[in-house]
Amino acid sequence: MSVVAVANQKGGVGKTTTTVNLAAAAAEMGRRTLVIDADAQANATSALGAQSSGLFLYDALLGQAELERCIVPTPWTDLDAVPSSMDLVAAEMELATQPEREYVLRSALADIAGGYELVLIDCGPSLGLMTLNALTAADAAIAPVQCEYLALEGLSALLETIRRVQMHLNPGLHLLGVVATMYDGRTRLSQDVASQLRSHISSTFETIIPRSIRLSEAPSHQRPIIDYAPRSRGADAYRELAEELLNRLSGLPVSTLYRARPVVDGVSG
Ligand SMILES: Nc1ncnc2c1ncn2[C@@H]1O[C@H](COP(=O)(O)OP(=O)(O)O)[C@@H](O)[C@H]1O
Ligand SMILES: [Mg+2]
Repeated sequence: MSVVAVANQKGGVGKTTTTVNLAAAAAEMGRRTLVIDADAQANATSALGAQSSGLFLYDALLGQAELERCIVPTPWTDLDAVPSSMDLVAAEMELATQPEREYVLRSALADIAGGYELVLIDCGPSLGLMTLNALTAADAAIAPVQCEYLALEGLSALLETIRRVQMHLNPGLHLLGVVATMYDGRTRLSQDVASQLRSHISSTFETIIPRSIRLSEAPSHQRPIIDYAPRSRGADAYRELAEELLNRLSGLPVSTLYRARPVVDGVSG
């Protein structure tokens, strides 16, 4: 099981769009995938058409339910979700005084190790305790960056946070790469930002996500792009990004965070 946090403290850069569509593309490729919605706005939950069972990520973090019980199916094969709710804002405060407060999500995930090949965590627009939990629980982080003016400005704070997490909380965390999003090839600005990203951050993904009306429409239909507009440029881009992501993940050292539980006489022990 590989756990990937999709993070950038800037809002509106394409975190949720990337999480949802990468997850759907990976599931289409036959990988059992789980999306954890770690943003109180719950945009990923609704974009996937996931119906909560009444249990949310909040309940798992506060120890009120096992994470496994908070998982719900989506309408898409091989794709499940842990829904979010507004309560998540309160969780940050309620967890703040708890010892090991950065490790809560990681412990919760350890109990489902083996059930999924890929877990994608959609982070909210902050570097607060929820995002720290996601980075502490993750084998890898990817950072969507919008191709626009000052896009690189906020990136150093994210990179610094990742370094601190690597040093103090999760030495196994890899910055897998930066994804250029909302690229408009007709504008000089988009071209400049994309090439600046390439030259400053060597791990920038080859795949560039184009700005596309279809991508922005899909969430209101509660469908990932590969279902809403399967032959669009946006769908192709996210399929390509999923392949690149899975390739890069397979090149990482074997995760020491989550080991599948040994199977004894056909029973998970
Ligand atoms: N490649 C794209 N082309 C067009 N619109 C996009 C694209 N990616 C995201 N959007 C739109 O931009 C807005 C912000 O994207 P979102 O993924 O919600 O960002 P974040 O999760 O980082 O806040 C949303 O309305 C989304 O539909
Ligand atoms: Mg979002």
